This record gives sequence, C-alpha cells and structure tokens, in this order.
Amino acid sequence: MEFKQVIDKRRTIREFSNEIVPNEIIVQSLEAGLKAPSYNHLKQWDFIMVRDSKIRLALTQTEEMIEELSSDLLQAFENHDSLAKAMYLDAIPKQKRMILTAPELLVVVYKPKTLVKDSNRIYDLNCLASVWCCIENILLSLAEHDVLGVTFIPKNTDKVKDILAVPDELEVAAIIPFGYKAEDSKIIEQKEIDLKTRIHINVW
Ligand SMILES: Cc1cc2nc3c(=O)[nH]c(=O)nc-3n(C[C@H](O)[C@H](O)[C@H](O)COP(=O)(O)O)c2cc1C
Repeated sequence: MEFKQVIDKRRTIREFSNEIVPNEIIVQSLEAGLKAPSYNHLKQWDFIMVRDSKIRLALTQTEEMIEELSSDLLQAFENHDSLAKAMYLDAIPKQKRMILTAPELLVVVYKPKTLVKDSNRIYDLNCLASVWCCIENILLSLAEHDVLGVTFIPKNTDKVKDILAVPDELEVAAIIPFGYKAEDSKIIEQKEIDLKTRIHINVW
C-alpha cells in the first residue's frame, strides 16, 4: 500500500466490530513503534496489552467518564469550532465503552527523563515527544491493515500505574483501544488545513 494511503487511512474510531485482530498485525505494529526516533537512542518504551475485563473496568474508574450528554455539556461546547464540537460531543460519551469493548487495549509506557511536574523546557519533555513518535508508528502500521484506534490520555496516571503494576520510575503515555471499525462507527470530518497558511520561510 502507498504510504500516502496509509496516512489517509489512519483515523480515530471509538466503536469497534467484534472481529479479532490477528496477533501478527499487533506484533508488526509494535515493531514499527520500536523503529521510531528516540531522543536518547534507548527507546525506553513498553507495551501492556490489557485483555482482562476486570482490569479494563478498573481503568475506567480512575476518572469520571460521562456516558450521556447533558445540557451543561452541550452548553460548554456552544462556542467551539464546529468540527471540534462535533468531535467532543461524539467522543465524550464513548470513552468508557471504547475502553471496555475494544478488541484490544494497548497501554504505552515510557521512561521519563524529567517528571512532567518538574519540566520547565521543551527539552525536558523529549521522552514524551519520543514516545508519541512511537505511538504514531503503531497507529500507521495498524491502519495499513484497516485496524484503527483512539489515543486516550488518562488524567490520573498514578492510579493507572497502580492498577497495571507499572514501576514507579515509568510513566503512562496513552491508552489505545483498537480493532476493526464497527459498520456504524462515526468518523468525524478531519479539519482541512491549507498548508499555504501555515508555512513560513526563514521567519514567521
Ligand atoms: C494527544 C492526543 C490526545 C487525545 N485524547 C483523546 C481522548 O482522551 N479521547 C478520545 O476519544 N480521543 C482522543 N484523541 C483523539 C483525537 O480526538 C483525534 O485524533 C482528533 O479528533 C482527530 O481525528 P483523527 O485522529 O481521526 O484525525 C487524542 C489525540 C491526541 C493526538
């Protein structure tokens, strides 16, 4: 498949079919993740595949997950960009369900150089930047096989670490439910950006 096609195919989905994702596709995607650039050459990333439904349920209990839209929530997004609003209103009530029902749930863990709370400069966040390069490689590799997902960033990572017995010195980057798209899964229109409005030569 053309690389551009893979880029276009990678979209966020939050509703999955029950079809099992073959292990070779998962392994290939994690290997692609491990090919990503890493600021210190060490690729200090680990992957936890969460298949136990009780553990998944515990993960959803680490923060409030709204399952139904309320009038307050609708009001909160009233003045948002229309595509962002469509995305949030679609996504918010699906957070818990996608974690519980996705055929696979990947948790990506990394070793931070400086704790997020102690970071002062972009440089301090090099490990976080690197792990996101890894995550994008994973997502693109899955997309090549029509397997799509969603990157969920937990708010209470300490609780997530406790549940998953992640060593203290490591940090959780993202929880990624993935699988094949459910027939009626919604894909929100992507924001089209005219590159000409964003490219600057020499200086801003
Ligand atoms: C850093 C980051 C955090 C995100 N957090 C969430 C999240 O917590 N829950 C969710 O449903 N989607 C989350 N997303 C997915 C975005 O909503 C999605 O990428 C965006 O709407 C663009 O859609 P696309 O991925 O189909 O291009 C996140 C994406 C990124 C890159």
